[in-house]
Amino acid sequence: MSDTPLTFERDIKPLFRDTDRAAMSKAFDLWSAADVAARGDAIAARLRDGSMPCDGPWPAERVATFTRWLDAGASP
Ligand code: HEM
Repeated sequence: MSDTPLTFERDIKPLFRDTDRAAMSKAFDLWSAADVAARGDAIAARLRDGSMPCDGPWPAERVATFTRWLDAGASP
């Protein structure tokens, strides 16, 4: 539901595969709410332009979930 408050642990972290986390671990930890919030704008831009993940873009609805979480304050 679009008015449900989103949290990182419940709604966002499960979107990142262990392969995503491993691929990006030198830059940031995709399973860390603090890391993802700190890089939120860069992550959102890459998700939106389809350049990340490297092996295929997310569906628009999933990108929208991420940006909604970020825009609502990136709750852990
Ligand atoms: C949802 C999952 C992913 C997200 C949100 C993501 C996000 C990002 C972001 C924000 C950057 C820019 C980092 C910077 O400039 O500091 C980046 C770079 C990069 N990512 Fe990912 N990534 C994901 C998955 C992957 C996967 C699966 C691979 C490949 C195995 C990958 C490979 C790379 C590489 C090689 C770079 C550096 C080159 C470039 O900037 O294009 N990433 N990623």
